Amino acid sequence: MHNSTQLKDIRKYYQQQLVSQLGTAVVVLNSRLEIKYLNPAAEAIFNKSLNRLLNKPFVDSFLHCSLQIERLEQVVRTGQDFTDSDVIIEFIDNARISLEVSATVIRIDGKTRVLLECKQIDKQKQINTEMFQEQQWQAARDLIRGLAHEIKNPLGGLRGAAQLLDRELNEEQREFTSLIIAQADRLTNLVDRLLGPNQLPNLSLMNIHQVLETVYRLKKLDNAKNIQFVRDYDPSIPDILIDPEKLQQTLLNIIGNALQVLNEQGKITLKTRIATNQTINGEKVKLAIKISIIDNGPGIPPALQDKIFYPMVSGRANGTGLGLSIAQTLVHQHQGKLACHSYPGRTEFSIILPLPKRSNQ
Ligand SMILES: Nc1ncnc2c1ncn2[C@@H]1O[C@H](COP(=O)(O)OP(=O)(O)OP(=O)(O)O)[C@@H](O)[C@H]1O
Ligand SMILES: [Mg+2]
Repeated sequence: MHNSTQLKDIRKYYQQQLVSQLGTAVVVLNSRLEIKYLNPAAEAIFNKSLNRLLNKPFVDSFLHCSLQIERLEQVVRTGQDFTDSDVIIEFIDNARISLEVSATVIRIDGKTRVLLECKQIDKQKQINTEMFQEQQWQAARDLIRGLAHEIKNPLGGLRGAAQLLDRELNEEQREFTSLIIAQADRLTNLVDRLLGPNQLPNLSLMNIHQVLETVYRLKKLDNAKNIQFVRDYDPSIPDILIDPEKLQQTLLNIIGNALQVLNEQGKITLKTRIATNQTINGEKVKLAIKISIIDNGPGIPPALQDKIFYPMVSGRANGTGLGLSIAQTLVHQHQGKLACHSYPGRTEFSIILPLPKRSNQ
């Protein structure tokens, strides 16, 4: 065992060392949004020293910064964090950088501070990868659908014939026809799942939290393990046109997977936020709703990470590998995007639903 002073010193030492050596740029602002600290990574990407920027208003420190000041003010006011995945900063010499910025309210020595974590991104590379995966997913889905369709037709005939035969047979022989019928039903079930959702969404204007609450109650009730559910909602999210049943199915598939991988001490967080400047299937969307389902399980095995949305890809011995493919189709039907970030200890699935232009203003 280590004594507590020793541990405190270790923590303090590494915390100081790490902030100064992190690759992520870290900026701390006060509640008036003036710069109070920059780590060396932030000094490097902004090409300015802490000495020059200390106490300067963050947004005015550059020629142009697309991060909206109202959003930062809202963070201070409400304590609700947010992420903008496309912040453009322009410098005096007209150089530009793209950043993903997450803003969180923290308390340091009893004072309110805003922590900005900024990651430089190569936007085009990210879009290209997403588009490529999207095409692959569509191709795999079309192939499976075609195959499922071909199986479904003769299967109906097979079942019908067995039923007819059933009437002609004696009790003992009927055992075989009922076996054919039962197995044909099982296959039809599978084939229907392979074909995926085929009805158009039945849209109505509603609050997504209504759907989240239903799912939360359902999962909480049939939760045999002792899993903690955390709800972290942004109540200011406006109503949106959704098909509640389809969104519910999507959430159930994702949470179902999380429950399957979690052990007894697991935690599942349902989080909603407004997200700005998202790219959905190659198109830029100014304002969107982001629903995140986060679990603290083992994470998705690296070899599976790029493929989990493909039909029939499963990491479970008895999984059909259709849950996420169906979820993806359902989110697509809402013009949205389903994405996943996972490492051991944290898996986040995010459903991004675009807000109509009207609410963008
Ligand atoms: N939260 C998660 N943590 C770790 N691995 C996950 C998580 N969610 C999904 N996976 C992995 O992704 C795979 C694919 O999931 P998907 O829901 O598509 O299929 P499945 O759960 O295997 O089968 P089905 O949902 O059709 O019964 C899972 O088998 C699992 O290996
Ligand atoms: Mg599943």
